[in-house]
Amino acid sequence: MIQVALCPSEIRRISATDLSGVTAVVFDILRATSSIITGLASGVEMIFPVGTVEAARNLKVNDADLLLAGERGGLPLQGFDLGNSPEEFEKIKGRRVVLTTTNGTVAIESMKGASKVLIGSLLNMDAVADYLFRHRPKSLLLVCAGTGDEFSLEDAIGAGALVARLADDGLSDAAVFVRSLYERVGEDVEEWLRQTKNGKLLQQIGKDADIKRCAQVSVFDVVGCLKGESVVRLAG
Ligand code: MLT
Repeated sequence: MIQVALCPSEIRRISATDLSGVTAVVFDILRATSSIITGLASGVEMIFPVGTVEAARNLKVNDADLLLAGERGGLPLQGFDLGNSPEEFEKIKGRRVVLTTTNGTVAIESMKGASKVLIGSLLNMDAVADYLFRHRPKSLLLVCAGTGDEFSLEDAIGAGALVARLADDGLSDAAVFVRSLYERVGEDVEEWLRQTKNGKLLQQIGKDADIKRCAQVSVFDVVGCLKGESVVRLAG
């Protein structure tokens, strides 16, 4: 069965239920999960997703080698080493990173009760689909991180791209909906991302290039998985 959590309130509701036996794939297309996958593809050792700025800073107090990354309102945080742009994650090979973002890292954290948590983005879409095809989880939950408290179109497009690559049966109504959306979007992913609430914010703050990057489909053969407290790259 493929279920989809379409917005933050639904994620909160589902995260309070028993998630044992569930494989979750979390999407924050603009930009947290795209940055994580870019980092793993570029040799970042591990990324600790945390929900709050305070939790991120506390981790660094105990381990000075960690890099701090993240955003609020799309902008880098004071005293942090990196923001939340995928290109920044290309330049820190071999490092361990703590990442806190408004929605993406909160959504990843909230799935800690699941049997497996994978990181979804357009960038590694075929790799995730191939992994799921090989492992065939009985219960698959696609988690759309959202923007603030709201549904976000870009995460639904990402979830739909994955549903379109998987089996036709056992789809919830929400899974059929996101697949239809993705089919409607077709080749115009970047244009659709530009028109989203988060896409417009990124354009306003001069992060236009990030949208182009995050809109690329299946450019990295990388599967990212939450192991304990950090996201690591799964061996091929
Ligand atoms: C989030 O987690 O809300 C996003 O990644 C925000 C962003 O674009 O930086």
